[in-house]
Amino acid sequence: MQIPIASIKPHPLNESIYGEITEEDVADLIQSIEDVGLLEPIVINSRNQCISGHRRLQACLFSGMESIECTVKEFSEDDEVLFIIEWNRQRRKTYRHLLNEAKSLMTYYGKNRKRGRPAINGNLDDSFKNKPTREIVADKIGTNHNTIQRLLYIDKHFPELIDGLGTKITLNQAYSQVKTFLNRKSIMSASRSKSTGKKSMETDPYVIYNHSSANMEELTDESVQCILTSPPYWNQRDYGGASDEIGREESLDEYLDHLMEIFAECYRVLSSQGCLFIVIGDKFHNGCLQLLGPRLAIRLVDDQKWILRNDLIWNKLNPKPENTSDRYSISHEDIFFLTKTSQYQFHMDEVRIPYREKTMLSRAPKHHKLNGKLVGHQTATLKNPKGKVPGTVIDCPRNEPPPYNETSVKHEAAFPVGLIERFVRVATEPGDIVLDPFAGSSTTGISAIQSGCYFVGYETNPRFIQLSRERFEIPLASTG
Ligand SMILES: C[S@@+](CC[C@H](N)C(=O)[O-])C[C@H]1O[C@@H](n2cnc3c(N)ncnc32)[C@H](O)[C@@H]1O
Repeated sequence: MQIPIASIKPHPLNESIYGEITEEDVADLIQSIEDVGLLEPIVINSRNQCISGHRRLQACLFSGMESIECTVKEFSEDDEVLFIIEWNRQRRKTYRHLLNEAKSLMTYYGKNRKRGRPAINGNLDDSFKNKPTREIVADKIGTNHNTIQRLLYIDKHFPELIDGLGTKITLNQAYSQVKTFLNRKSIMSASRSKSTGKKSMETDPYVIYNHSSANMEELTDESVQCILTSPPYWNQRDYGGASDEIGREESLDEYLDHLMEIFAECYRVLSSQGCLFIVIGDKFHNGCLQLLGPRLAIRLVDDQKWILRNDLIWNKLNPKPENTSDRYSISHEDIFFLTKTSQYQFHMDEVRIPYREKTMLSRAPKHHKLNGKLVGHQTATLKNPKGKVPGTVIDCPRNEPPPYNETSVKHEAAFPVGLIERFVRVATEPGDIVLDPFAGSSTTGISAIQSGCYFVGYETNPRFIQLSRERFEIPLASTG
């Protein structure tokens, strides 16, 4: 249908997402319309607003046409944003366009959403129903979820950087610089307001609070990238801290309840792309092993919606000798690896293990029937040149307690830097904040700082905070 061009308006959403269209932008289209005419009608709604074909509409206006071929379609006003973005899918987009698309779609899908998942199902097929909003938005735009997350983060904190992305600075460089800047700022202001000692910590990359981590009010929601911790055992030792020290509870349930309170705070402060690692040993009570770790892990998954990604075993290569003749000696601790979402930061290449064999081709295992005949064919596959994925058993000696080893730290339950540095490497990038809610002598902190991160610790016993400070002062290489 031919409609007078003067009566057709561009859709305001199109301009707010993609900006104004200048004559220069559509010079090629003007030429082609003058040569061969408009090959495809533009799509308008019943209010004569353009939904698809803004560039063609502008080109026709610039070339002085009086009427234009249109197809009129009915859209619900709410859904128009979907169509406008869909019809711009093939367009060459700047990061500003992607950001504007993402923000418009977040608003669209965010209406009535519950905990990041859309509750409405308008225009959502079944595969979308359980996806977080940000993933749906990334799919619709045709980009990945990380790009959206990084753009929204930069826009929130340094919106002036958006227009230089892709030309003056890459998205990843900008993201990591903004993150480093903000984390340094928050650690420094935390150090200033709650300095834990005489020495000024204004320039230090760490802060340790001397109170229970049941309340981590100093940390804002989702500000931490990685949590690495070992809670006190139940009923094993008195660390000499305040009355809210964990581990002295009368019953196992009470102990687990207290830990759950702290992990609820951890959930709040951990980024949705963050990782939590809990190193936890077991305990006998009346001769019966209590399975502390598995009980805790099950409650974290059932009651707090953590996602359990691995249960790893720390195989202590030099376990504490035990004088027992009716059971095996305990030589391992559990390490639970949990996340909040399925989209978390995890740098596998940082922890791959070099192959022992020289050949880079691996063969699929042979499959035999019960009668011994070979089924299927073996296919050679190329191994990852960076090495293989590590398994779930981690061999690592424990720290010998003093005075047996001169380099050991003066905390009875410190875990070795050698054990945990692999988790810091896999789960963080320089500039991230790493948290230990049971800091002890801050082994996590030492490892975090070695990796270029910032460290926040909570510790109820001031003696251990002093010990941590001494550790941070000695050359890093000799702290393990
Ligand atoms: C197993 S140790 C951690 C050792 C630490 N991973 C290291 O390498 O030194 C547990 C620590 O948690 C501390 N703690 C106990 N209850 C606490 C609480 N409610 N908040 C913060 N720290 C607590 C204890 O004083 C003890 O130092």
